[in-house]
Amino acid sequence: MSDLEIKNLHVEIEGKEILKGVNLEASKGEVAALMGPNGAGKSSLGYALMGHPNYKVTAGKITFKGEDITKLPPNERAKKGLFLSFQYPSEVPGVSMANFLRTAINSRRDKKPTSTGVDGAQSQQRNSANGGMRNRAQPDLRLGNPMPVGEFIKQLREKMKMLKIDESFMHRYLNEGFSGGEKKRAEILQMAMLKPEMAVLDETDSGLDVDSLKVVAEGINRLLNPETGVLLITHYQRILDYVKPNRVYIMMAGKIAKSGGAELVQQIENKGYESIKVKAQ
Ligand SMILES: Nc1ncnc2c1ncn2[C@@H]1O[C@H](COP(=O)(O)OP(=O)(O)O)[C@@H](O)[C@H]1O
Ligand SMILES: [Mg+2]
Repeated sequence: MSDLEIKNLHVEIEGKEILKGVNLEASKGEVAALMGPNGAGKSSLGYALMGHPNYKVTAGKITFKGEDITKLPPNERAKKGLFLSFQYPSEVPGVSMANFLRTAINSRRDKKPTSTGVDGAQSQQRNSANGGMRNRAQPDLRLGNPMPVGEFIKQLREKMKMLKIDESFMHRYLNEGFSGGEKKRAEILQMAMLKPEMAVLDETDSGLDVDSLKVVAEGINRLLNPETGVLLITHYQRILDYVKPNRVYIMMAGKIAKSGGAELVQQIENKGYESIKVKAQ
């Protein structure tokens, strides 16, 4: 069983059916790539995964770590470890990047630590479901108190250095006046700080020059670990030259037209999307 399972998902926007029975799986520790031409429905799938209210699920099911999340509100999904980076990130004047990140991190840590309460019991269940493999040295982000400021700044500095983001960005308003490349790096920084279990990255490569692309790809590769997986949404194959996918899905007209391994990327590069026919209904 995969950590994220999408089964026969049908999604409507303003009464129009956009996703027409999508099946897709992604797991922690792996990269699943979702490719497809413009307008195929890739971003819509990302929004539906995060529970955006305009994207109405009319049939099908999304399960994450074995739990049906199809009807959960976005904040509950985020707390469970799902993360979505947007194709077109918004500018948030008045909120500094540091403040935004700290708030986001702490909202995932807002349950009180207890050894006997509901949280403790859930945590124990989770541990035994994992075969007790959760690394004890890594604090569980869903438990505990707000991250101390010193620890937060230390981590933020470290990750910014890794992603070659200037320290001055800490105090700048989120995405305001950021160049395309800076916005994309800022998204990877969010992912590095939030440590999601499944990150959905929508067109993280679009508009990047080759140097920025390499920095972003390296950032993604470093963040991959047994507890973090990535669903990489992309129109172009070029980021997949740097981030190797374990599985590849090709979406066309709201359906997965083909799925397979990394070799599919080459096929798209050589022959284009037209070489893949949408399966008969
Ligand atoms: N908010 C919306 N309202 C109406 N139609 C939308 C909306 N968002 C997306 N669509 C339509 O859904 C289809 C899929 O779009 P999208 O998911 O953005 O595709 P992709 O990310 O693969 O380019 C397109 O036909 C698009 O016009
Ligand atoms: Mg899109």
